Amino acid sequence: MLARILSAALVGVEAALVRVEVDVTPGLPAFTTVGLPDSAVRESRERVRTAIRNAGFPFPADRITVNLAPADLRKAGASFDLPLAVGLTCRRQGIGTLVVPVANHTEARAVDGLRVLAAPTLRDAVSLLNGDTAQAAPPAPDPPASPSTSTDDLDFADVRGQTYAKRALEIAAGGAHNLLLVGPPGGGKTMLARRLAGILPPLTRDEVIEASTIWSVAGLLPRHGELMSRRPFRAPHHTISVSGLIGGGTPPHPGEVTLAHLGVLFLDELPEFQQHVLESLRQPLEDGRVTIARASGVSDFPARFQLVAAANPCRRGCASLDHCICTPAERARYLGRLSRPLLDRIDLHVELPALAPADFRPAVAGDATETIRLRVGAARQRQRERFRGTGIRVNAAMSPRQVRRFCAVPAEAERLLAAAMTGLGLSARGHDRVLKVARTIADLVGAETLAAEHCAEAIQYRGLDRQWRA
Ligand SMILES: Nc1ncnc2c1ncn2[C@@H]1O[C@H](COP(=O)(O)OP(=O)(O)O)[C@@H](O)[C@H]1O
Ligand SMILES: [Mg+2]
Repeated sequence: MLARILSAALVGVEAALVRVEVDVTPGLPAFTTVGLPDSAVRESRERVRTAIRNAGFPFPADRITVNLAPADLRKAGASFDLPLAVGLTCRRQGIGTLVVPVANHTEARAVDGLRVLAAPTLRDAVSLLNGDTAQAAPPAPDPPASPSTSTDDLDFADVRGQTYAKRALEIAAGGAHNLLLVGPPGGGKTMLARRLAGILPPLTRDEVIEASTIWSVAGLLPRHGELMSRRPFRAPHHTISVSGLIGGGTPPHPGEVTLAHLGVLFLDELPEFQQHVLESLRQPLEDGRVTIARASGVSDFPARFQLVAAANPCRRGCASLDHCICTPAERARYLGRLSRPLLDRIDLHVELPALAPADFRPAVAGDATETIRLRVGAARQRQRERFRGTGIRVNAAMSPRQVRRFCAVPAEAERLLAAAMTGLGLSARGHDRVLKVARTIADLVGAETLAAEHCAEAIQYRGLDRQWRA
């Protein structure tokens, strides 16, 4: 007797269908699992035997062979209860009904167009598979959606002065651009970076599923099945390893760059990170993905995050350039730990001045988070409309071809850009990034075509390129 049941294994953060074929034939009692199962799956024999008996079914005293197909896919134990990833796969492959444990019901139901039945017990699962849906557990009520701005009492209005940096953060949020803040300690770099989350638009419905799938695989979703409702904000410490940041291990686990997918990766004290750790950021920053090769196969993780980094101008953290006791060589060496290719991938460089007493006059308080978030939201809406059907959502994600198509500039701006390429030693990549930022600056004021002034402002944020010419 042969029974076939569809399940799924995990490849990266995607589910691959696995056919579980159980063959029961007369002969000496035996229980064999074939098809590259890992030890956890092999050890499932005792669990299966006990569960079947406890559910009140007889356990056959025959030859049992379990084949997990396709055979070349490694099947790890824990991945067999990842309902969201499995659910997505089912929908794509035209499977209509999914049976999951009760605890995973809410999460799996987030996938539209799929019938999800929850089985409280093995007995109920057997009834469901036999077509008796009366056994299905009633669906739990939808979890309350948490509003996207509730956490933070971190408001932009609390940040004094630093209007230039605030403007850069608004642009960064407006088009999901990477940003580096350089300035003396105590000037508000960390304070500003932590306020970025509050001005980002909420995740769209599709993005909720995309981000939640990753967090589900990493085991980080809250247990009661609540989905991600806000953009992730990850701030790993500078002692993090390459595998912690990028992902790794066997089987490969997602790293911080993947947990930050669709959100923010904040690297505070950037020059303090180990150099090879920083260099490992280059692939995800360029491709929006991470590829991890292992003997067992290649895992591909999504990693389209927005990088926000902060740095003191020198190792000692002197109060300001005027009061800096470090030698010019020491200063150059410190920021020099940030390689040219890494800086090239950071669209906005901002140098913050030390705070001045005048910044603390009440009259100079800037816009509140709520006000900025509305402007950012409107700019993002323009991008969604522009990019409909292109597979991207934000200016930062434009390919070189899309830059040619969506960022045509007037002759006057061409000249400005040409001068910047020579003067700042901008690479072709840097040139494209300037255009993307200019596109966001135009979107923030609702301008349809790029003007020279938008390009001029975008060029201002390439300050560190000049230093690296030296
Ligand atoms: N621009 C600012 N406006 C108001 N308070 C500030 C500002 N900059 C710094 N502070 C105060 O100093 C503290 C340290 O600032 P922080 O953001 O950690 O500086 P940095 O990261 O640049 O070293 C903040 O928690 C805040 O209390
Ligand atoms: Mg700081």
